[in-house]
Amino acid sequence: MKGLKEHPEIVRIIKAEDEKNQWGENWHSDVSYNFKPTKAVILKSIKIPPVGGDTCFANMELAWETLDEEIKDKIKDKKAVHSSLGAEFFIEKYKKMEGNEKKNYDEYSNEHPIVRTHPETGKKILFVNWTYTKKIIGMDQIESDEILKKIFEHQAKLELTCRFTWTENAVCIWDNRSVIHFAIADFYNGRGLGYERIMDRIAIEGDHPQ
Ligand SMILES: [Fe+2]
Repeated sequence: MKGLKEHPEIVRIIKAEDEKNQWGENWHSDVSYNFKPTKAVILKSIKIPPVGGDTCFANMELAWETLDEEIKDKIKDKKAVHSSLGAEFFIEKYKKMEGNEKKNYDEYSNEHPIVRTHPETGKKILFVNWTYTKKIIGMDQIESDEILKKIFEHQAKLELTCRFTWTENAVCIWDNRSVIHFAIADFYNGRGLGYERIMDRIAIEGDHPQ
């Protein structure tokens, strides 16, 4: 991905009218598979569809606080594998996006604590997500799958979420450590509606989760 000419830190995300799929249409924390996942994201809407395209957020501090005690006990000192291949369902989607020609199927993965501590507030955060978290270290795959499934259901409960409706020139900033998000793709061609959407995005580098 390449940034804008005068502001290389800004990546313009263009979704064409005839796009078949859309990035981000599942709960995730951006690049959680990196050694230092993004700390915060700033997203500004340049052009938005007349309907749809809301972004949902879920609070992972609350998700940890309200998680079933038995599950908490099983995972509190464990790590999980986050893999970039979790995003394979949206590889090769954004045809208009500059710098996206080279397909990258290499896997990046890292292990992170399932419960991380927010470096600024000291709060505990449930740091796994449906898109990228593949396995709990030190558990067999079956048990890991079962527990992760329960966690993924829990962290998407509506009472943990809010929903952001875009207007033109809106700016949304989120702490990518303590929320997961879900870009609702209800406005594009694959759903019978063909609208272009243009967003400018800045990702701020974070630290290694502890
Ligand atoms: Fe995202």
